[in-house]
Amino acid sequence: MRELSLNVMDIAQNSVTANASLITITVNESDKDDFLDIFIEDNGKGMTKEQVQSVIDPFFTTRKTRKVGLGIPLFKMAAEQTGGYLTIESQVGIGTKVHAHFVKSSVDMTPLGDINSTVKILIQCNPCLDFVFNHSTDIGEFTLDTRELREVLGEDVPLSTPDVLEWIGGFLEEQSDIIYGGA
Ligand SMILES: Nc1ncnc2c1ncn2[C@@H]1O[C@H](COP(=O)(O)OP(=O)(O)OP(=O)(O)O)[C@@H](O)[C@H]1O
Ligand SMILES: [Mg+2]
Repeated sequence: MRELSLNVMDIAQNSVTANASLITITVNESDKDDFLDIFIEDNGKGMTKEQVQSVIDPFFTTRKTRKVGLGIPLFKMAAEQTGGYLTIESQVGIGTKVHAHFVKSSVDMTPLGDINSTVKILIQCNPCLDFVFNHSTDIGEFTLDTRELREVLGEDVPLSTPDVLEWIGGFLEEQSDIIYGGA
């Protein structure tokens, strides 16, 4: 994929399908220490050890009955081609945590891309779910937590309300400008 933010969309979509009610997306990046880490964590239905194994390496499985998904393998490939890695921690009935580690300066690094739009679209398309988005750089960090927004907005104003989405988009833009050393 041309942008890691598209991989994030795909992995978060897995969390939605797994009936998560809370999805946490964290991007920690550092030029100084030359890494970019992405965590996608959910409280969905989780996977067994065997499921995790076959999802990480879909061609390893001997079962032919299931369709082979590519969301996780593609994300893993993007990480490994930089010299990084991907891990999955999952527990049935508890949830799943996907962690991808990238060596940022690698010539094979895929750019993060428009992660703010990914977050905004996820909220827009799943207004009943809660999302936490954390982003940190060498300069600073910020968090968007839809549970806090909900509290301020009250029960009658859904997160998919155009004014609310516009505010979310503006907040993400403003905060990421700051941690990228702009504005
Ligand atoms: N967060 C998750 N919670 C529970 N199960 C998951 C999670 N992520 C992935 N899975 C399981 O792993 C499978 C493979 O995921 P993957 O994203 O690689 O492919 P897919 O979603 O099936 O297909 P694709 O993403 O290519 O459309 C999923 O079908 C699902 O069964
Ligand atoms: Mg998928």
